[in-house]
Amino acid sequence: MKILAFAASHRADSLNRKLVALAAEAARKEGADVDLADFNEFHVPHYNGDHERGAGLPEGALELKRRLERANAVLLASPEYNYSIPGALKNAIDWVSRARPMPWRGKSIYLMSASPSPMGGIRGLWQTRIPLEGCGALVFPDMFALPNADQAFDDTGQLRDRKLAERLEQEVRGFVRLADAIAPVCDRPRTAAEKQRRETIVSALEKESQLQPTPAAAKKT
Ligand code: FNR
Repeated sequence: MKILAFAASHRADSLNRKLVALAAEAARKEGADVDLADFNEFHVPHYNGDHERGAGLPEGALELKRRLERANAVLLASPEYNYSIPGALKNAIDWVSRARPMPWRGKSIYLMSASPSPMGGIRGLWQTRIPLEGCGALVFPDMFALPNADQAFDDTGQLRDRKLAERLEQEVRGFVRLADAIAPVCDRPRTAAEKQRRETIVSALEKESQLQPTPAAAKKT
């Protein structure tokens, strides 16, 4: 099971970066091969249809696409900005969604958030599900929000609250096991029967993206 992990923050001292590092560690304990990326590697300009038509996807979007394509699942920690998804993350999702086949399709995704507020950023995660699910990703039902995150980590980056740390580990374990179980039908078929099942599933997941033609798809018609 290959997992791409990143925090949707460009800040060096990001709380979400600390949280996703813990989730990555928990996934490795479960046997996953985790690619822990830095969001700065996926830096993109604002989406612009003229830019896309002229030059295709920018380098940061191509890098995120490549890393997604190598993974079966994603661990994503995102800040909440004004009760919602940060613009930089939405913009990165939008750019990558223009590639075909849709790189998000069939990927299992576990969402987390860390915030200094007592809400922990959970409201933003509900908004973050929407574009990911719109792109055919399978967003895990449980989500992890870390409240008072500016006080939550010790000097070694561990969570001070052992119960919370155990809950995070337990949820990531459940996510990795489910993602591993569904990867053969959604993302990584092994047998002919699995390939056939995958085709049926992905064509259902692809329906929406067929309604959003890209310049490359438009040229074909
Ligand atoms: C925030 N922050 C924030 N926090 C929150 O819990 N709910 C919110 O609606 C917002 N809104 C918001 C908007 C903007 C523009 C900024 C810059 C910040 C605070 C945010 O949770 C805090 O800055 C986190 O530390 C950001 O995550 P990283 O960069 O530490 O990972």
